[in-house]
Amino acid sequence: MSSNAVGVKIKNVSKTFPAYGNKSKEIYAVKNVSIDIEPGQLVTLLGPSGCGKTTILRMIAGFLIPTSGEIYIGDKEVSKVPPNKRNVGMMFQSYALFPHMNVYDNVAYGLKLKHMDKNEIKDRVENILSLMQIGDYKNNMPNELSGGQQQRVALARAVVTEPSVLLFDEPLSNLDAKLREYMRGELRKIQQRVGITSLYVTHDQSEAMAISDKVIIMRHGMIEQVGTAMEIYSKPRNVFVADFIGKANFVKVDEVKDISNGYANIVLFGHEMNITAAENCKDAESFTCMIRPENIVITPDGRFTALVTAKAYFGQYVQYMLNINGQDIELMDFSQTNTNISEGDKIRVDVMESSLRLIASDSKKEC
Ligand SMILES: Nc1ncnc2c1ncn2[C@@H]1O[C@H](COP(=O)(O)OP(=O)(O)OP(=O)(O)O)[C@@H](O)[C@H]1O
Ligand SMILES: [Mg+2]
Repeated sequence: MSSNAVGVKIKNVSKTFPAYGNKSKEIYAVKNVSIDIEPGQLVTLLGPSGCGKTTILRMIAGFLIPTSGEIYIGDKEVSKVPPNKRNVGMMFQSYALFPHMNVYDNVAYGLKLKHMDKNEIKDRVENILSLMQIGDYKNNMPNELSGGQQQRVALARAVVTEPSVLLFDEPLSNLDAKLREYMRGELRKIQQRVGITSLYVTHDQSEAMAISDKVIIMRHGMIEQVGTAMEIYSKPRNVFVADFIGKANFVKVDEVKDISNGYANIVLFGHEMNITAAENCKDAESFTCMIRPENIVITPDGRFTALVTAKAYFGQYVQYMLNINGQDIELMDFSQTNTNISEGDKIRVDVMESSLRLIASDSKKEC
C-alpha cells in the first residue's frame, strides 16, 4: 500500500431526486447508506440496475451533493467540496479516450492540466505506461488499439495523477467475457501495486468476488449486506442476497426445532440436522433453507432419494435437476464421477450440513 493512501467514509448518506412526472414527490436513489473503505482497500458495490450504485460514486466524486449525510476522504469532510478539489479519479464503462490524441498525450492530459513540469510529466507517463505494459504503444492512436489496450490506457490515465481515491463504474462491461476476466485480474494487480483506495461498481457478481477486499450488496438504494466475498456467499443475510450471489436452491423445511447462536436444528426431508441460521430467523414465522447446488453430493449411502428430472453437461460440471420429496432442486456435480446417471433414474444424495443456511422467508422481515 502506498504510504499516502487515505480511507473513504460515507456516513448516513441519502440522495433524493424529484419523481418523474410528479415533481412534488421525491424518490430515494440512495437511502441512509454508510460505507467505510480502509486506505488501499478495494470495495465493490454490487446490486441490480437502479439500486443507487452510480449515485454513490457521483457523490464521492463531487458531481452530486448528498441530500443528507457526510462524506469523508481521509479526515476531511468533502460533501460540499467541488470535484476538482477532491483528488478523486474516475474510470467509466465507456472509457472515452480522446480520439485525436495518441496514448502518451491521453495519459499526460491530466498532468498538463495541473501545469506540471514537462520532464516530470514524461517520467510519470512513461512509468505508468510501463507498469501497464503498454509502453510500446505510446505513439498509437486509440483506434489503433485493442479493447484491452484501450482499457489499460484509460486505467493509466486515471492513475497517473495519483488520486487519493479511484472510482470505477463498470469499467470492464464493454469487453468480451474472456478479456474481461483477464483485465479484472490486471486491474486488481495495478490497484494493489499502486495502493489506491478504490470503490468499484459492477453488476457482475463473479467480478465482484474476484477482485474485492469487501463486497457491498445493495437493493433499492440501501445496503443489504457487507462482507468479504466468502462471508456473503456462505452466510447471506436474507433470500435476496443468497439469490443475488451465486446460485441457490430454496427448500421448504419440515420443522424448525431450535434456533440459537447462529445455528438451527431443523428437520429436512425427514432428517434432523444442524445448519447455520441467518440473524433474520429470530422473529420469523416462516423459513426457507438455502442449499447451494454444489453442496449436494451423489453418494450411494446418501440419506435422500432423488428423481433425476434433467441432466446437462457444462464442461466444468454436470447439472442435474432433481426432485426430492416433491421439491425441485438443482445439483452441480464438479467431480463428474457419476457418468452413468440418466434422466428418470432414482439416485441417493446427501448434503453438507454446515453449508446449509436457514433464512427467514417472510418478506415483511426482509425489507
Ligand atoms: N439525475 C437524476 N434524476 C432523477 N433520478 C435519478 C437521477 N440519477 C439517478 N436517478 C434515479 O436514481 C436511481 C439510482 O440510479 P443509479 O444510476 O445510481 O443506479 P445504478 O445502481 O447505477 O444502476 P445501473 O446498474 O443501471 O447503472 C434510479 O432509480 C434512477 O432512475
Ligand atoms: Mg450505474
